[in-house]
Amino acid sequence: MRCVKALQLTLAVVKPDAVAHPLVLEALHQKILKNFIIVRKKDLMWRTEDSERFYAEHAGRFFYQRLVEFMASGPMRAYILAREDAITHWRGMMGPTKVFRARYTSPDTLRGQYGLTDTRNTTHGSDSVDSAKREISFFFPEFNADEWMSREEPRLR
Ligand code: TYD
Ligand code: MG
Repeated sequence: MRCVKALQLTLAVVKPDAVAHPLVLEALHQKILKNFIIVRKKDLMWRTEDSERFYAEHAGRFFYQRLVEFMASGPMRAYILAREDAITHWRGMMGPTKVFRARYTSPDTLRGQYGLTDTRNTTHGSDSVDSAKREISFFFPEFNADEWMSREEPRLR
């Protein structure tokens, strides 16, 4: 019997701090290639309004203003990634949000290796199926997940 893997999609973003360093950006890209099917990839830069809208759930937190300004401060790279358990796999590769913790508890993660501060922490990843759906359409409004799944999944059997 053939084993059919259930594909899941997630949104991954390389933040401006990591995009600014070509070697870090390339290292992240190579790790992504090894672990996921890259469904879509886009280089872009946000206006402050985009940043405020994307991070609305954090409005009022002490880091919100700093986060919003930083995320609109330079180019980013967004990916739609696919694999089994894509959401938790990418979150695991990223490591803990806080860089100090990441350095000491998970030095092999992206944030542990390349994170600069709690805000300049290399990457974003969706944290649930619902947020992946919402965030994929935020970055890739033209992307149709159902259509992609029905077209691509048989190839992976
Ligand atoms: P959060 O969703 O808590 O973390 P994650 O990115 O791991 O899902 O926070 C969103 C972003 O807000 C986080 O990646 C960086 C920024 N942030 C800070 O700058 N300081 C903080 O103390 C926290 C919790 C987040
Ligand atoms: Mg989050």
